[in-house]
Amino acid sequence: MDAAVPPLGPEEERRADAVRRALARGADADGFVPFDRFMEIALYDDAGGYYARPESPFGPAGDFYTAARVHPLFARTLARHVRSVRRALGADRPFEIVEVGPGDGTLGASLLSALGEDPSGLVGVSYHLVERSPSLARRARERLTPVAADRGVPVVDEPAIGATGPFEGIVLANEFLDAEPARRLRWTGDAWRELGVRVRDGRVEPAESSTAPPVPDPPVPAPAEPNVIVEVSPVAESWVRSVGDHLAAGVLLALDYGAEESELVAGHPRGTLAAVRRHRSVNDFWSSPGASDLSVFVDFTRLRYAARRAGLVELAYGRQAEALGAWGFPSELEAALAGARDAEEGVRVRLAAKNLLFGFEQFRVLELAAPASAERLAALRWPAG
Ligand SMILES: C[S@@+](CC[C@H](N)C(=O)[O-])C[C@H]1O[C@@H](n2cnc3c(N)ncnc32)[C@H](O)[C@@H]1O
Repeated sequence: MDAAVPPLGPEEERRADAVRRALARGADADGFVPFDRFMEIALYDDAGGYYARPESPFGPAGDFYTAARVHPLFARTLARHVRSVRRALGADRPFEIVEVGPGDGTLGASLLSALGEDPSGLVGVSYHLVERSPSLARRARERLTPVAADRGVPVVDEPAIGATGPFEGIVLANEFLDAEPARRLRWTGDAWRELGVRVRDGRVEPAESSTAPPVPDPPVPAPAEPNVIVEVSPVAESWVRSVGDHLAAGVLLALDYGAEESELVAGHPRGTLAAVRRHRSVNDFWSSPGASDLSVFVDFTRLRYAARRAGLVELAYGRQAEALGAWGFPSELEAALAGARDAEEGVRVRLAAKNLLFGFEQFRVLELAAPASAERLAALRWPAG
C-alpha cells in the first residue's frame, strides 16, 4: 500500500484474505484470473468485497465523494431535468425514477426533496432503488424513506432493472458504470493479450495471459503503437441493452468518468484503472484486494454502440458541465446565492459550483430515449460535446 495511505486494520486484513481466497477459487490451472473477474470479486465478493463492507465508502470518513455530495445544486439541477422529462411524457402518467447503484441514497434524497417543492409534481411518481450492495441498499432505503414518505412517494427495492416489468420514467446511473467489471487488454503490436492477476501461494500479482478471448462486437481497433491498454466492459454494455429491453418510455441518463475510445487511447495509453482509499490514489492494485475502490473510465464509443443496437435513441452526449448548463444550473446557482445567509455561505456556494462544473471535467453524460417516446423527448436535446 502507498506510504500516504493508512495501513489496513485487522478487519480489513481479514476481508482482503477472504478476497484472495475467492480469487484462488476463481483462478484457472495456472492461477490466472482475468481482470474483469478480479474486479468483480474485489468489489462485490460477499465475504470481503469493497462494496460488501458495512461501512459507507462515501464522504469525509470514507474514500471518495460523488457529485451529489458536493452540494445540493447538483440534485436540484437534475430535478429540473427530471421535471422536463416527466412533462414531455405526460404529467398524468405513472413515472418511475429508477436509480441504479444509488450507494447510500444521498442523490435520491436530495432529488426527491427538490422535486417535492412542487408537491403536485410528485403525484404518480415512485422511486426505485437497484443497489447490489446489501449494506448500501439498507442505507439508501433508510435515507430515502422519510423524505419520500413526507411527499407520498413509494420507495421500492428492485433486484435489477425492469424486475417488475416494462416501465415509464427515468433511469439514473451516476458513477455506476465505472464500477462495473471491465476487461483490460494489452496490444502487443499484432495481437491482444488479456490482463489480469495470478494467485500464487496466497499472493496476488499482476499477470498477462498468452491469449485473449474475442471481445464482443464492435471490434476494438488495433492501436498504432504496441503496449496500449484498453478497458472494455461487456457487463456495462449488456446492462445498457437490458435498459433498452424494459424502458417503455422515458430516458436513461448515465453520468460517469469516461470518453470516446479514440480519446481514451490517445490520452490514457496505459489505461484508466484507478484505485482510491481514504481520498488518496493507491498505485498497488493487487496486494490488498477489496480494500480500495476500483474503477475504469467508461468507453462511451462502445456504450453508444450498445445503445444503438438496443434501439435506444441518443438525445445527448457531452461533458457534465454542458449537461448541467442545459438543465438550468445558472438559475439554481443564482437562487442558492440569493438564499445564502451570509458572505461565507456565498463563498461556499461559489466553490461548490466551481467544483461541480470543473472538478468533474472528465465526466460525460449520455442521455438515451426509449424509441416509443423519442419524438416527445426530442425538445430535451442539448448540444453534443
Ligand atoms: C461509485 S458508487 C456510486 C454511488 C452513487 N450513484 C453516487 O453517485 O453517490 C457505485 C454504486 O453502484 C453499485 N453497483 C455496482 N454494480 C451494481 C449492479 N450491478 N446493480 C446495482 N448496483 C450496483 C455499488 O454497490 C455502488 O453503490
